[in-house]
Amino acid sequence: MKNLCVNLKKETDLSYPIIIERGILDNIENHLEDRKYFLITNDKIAKIYANFLSKFNKARTVIIKDGEKYKNLKTIEYILNKLLDNRIERKDCIVAFGGGVIGDMAGFCASSILRGVDFIQIPTTLLSQVDSSVGGKTGFNNKHGKNLVGAFYQPKKVLIDPNVLNTLPEKEFQCGMGEVIKYAFIERSCGAKEYFNLFELFEKNNVNELINIIEDIIYACVSLKAAVVEQDEKEKGLRALLNLGHTYAHAIEKISNYKISHGQAVLAGIKMALKASLIKGVINENYYNFGTNLIDKYNLAPKLKKLNPDKIIDIMKSDKKVKNSKINLILPRTAAQAALFDDIDELLIKDSLI
Ligand SMILES: NC(=O)c1ccc[n+]([C@@H]2O[C@H](COP(=O)([O-])OP(=O)(O)OC[C@H]3O[C@@H](n4cnc5c(N)ncnc54)[C@H](O)[C@@H]3O)[C@@H](O)[C@H]2O)c1
Ligand SMILES: [Zn+2]
Repeated sequence: MKNLCVNLKKETDLSYPIIIERGILDNIENHLEDRKYFLITNDKIAKIYANFLSKFNKARTVIIKDGEKYKNLKTIEYILNKLLDNRIERKDCIVAFGGGVIGDMAGFCASSILRGVDFIQIPTTLLSQVDSSVGGKTGFNNKHGKNLVGAFYQPKKVLIDPNVLNTLPEKEFQCGMGEVIKYAFIERSCGAKEYFNLFELFEKNNVNELINIIEDIIYACVSLKAAVVEQDEKEKGLRALLNLGHTYAHAIEKISNYKISHGQAVLAGIKMALKASLIKGVINENYYNFGTNLIDKYNLAPKLKKLNPDKIIDIMKSDKKVKNSKINLILPRTAAQAALFDDIDELLIKDSLI
């Protein structure tokens, strides 16, 4: 078992523990208090984890349809009504049981229902275990784009059971690996107290061996995320580091009509960011080769057809991280560091497309 804490001491103490433990689901009673819990999950997870769900009151369990396409206002309204139908009160607590889609929506419902009730994250995908369950970003998609409506709202607790990854489809595991590999490239810029040397872990292990050390990997990633969030909860600066590869990735996802998964697109995006760094002279050829080889080793980055540079740039410009219509990019620097560059011109983007 591994424990850590996100320390957010503001007017009120928003700090919360993250517990990583195999078998947490079987011992969930040990982690719950004497209060009413409202569990939110989807139909797919509800089937696989019927046993776990049976530990919660059926009337206080809200099951939505599975899929990113249901991450919208209609589903939010459905959840809110179910919670109110079953008389949720301010002192009750919401449990988000699922991947990032469930976590983001359940968190948003918790932030707004009755002007805010407590919530707990029990993430069930690798992506949500290493990334989305920590940090308090909640929200949903609408016709203008992904996650454009939401709130910063921290959970009271994050309970991570690596055993649930056994039922996760391979494709989803690979998607989570995109974020995991991202952490390796930003590790030394996160301001964490520990150094995990994720690069070395990836050099030593093949992709099918990673599951054996997944607890260490999750611990490293959430520690890095916690460190960043503690310094910059609302993304005024440092938190942007977590977007390494993401500005490219969002464009790649959109252009592929979301056929390329987020994690895969992030890996392609990191490779492009490495190339941009190389062209700018921020990194040398050695680091560029080291970084691209590391990503290629796992063979997870998508084989992209020739990308249309103008389309990519258009999409990148409409990204919500763009300021004064200049493209800002997080670029890798040598030795597991990264930084924000706000002077990126279109030519550099074009030259960095792989
Ligand atoms: N809040 C944040 O900081 C943050 C960060 C990154 C991503 N996100 C959001 O997270 C979402 C993506 O999350 P995701 O990758 O977890 O996708 P997801 O929630 O859609 O889950 C992926 C698939 O795996 C299934 N699944 C989940 N757990 C399973 C398990 N243990 N066994 C079998 N199947 C399982 C789900 O039902 C779904 O079909 C996006 O909406 C993204 O915007 C949020
Ligand atoms: Zn991401």
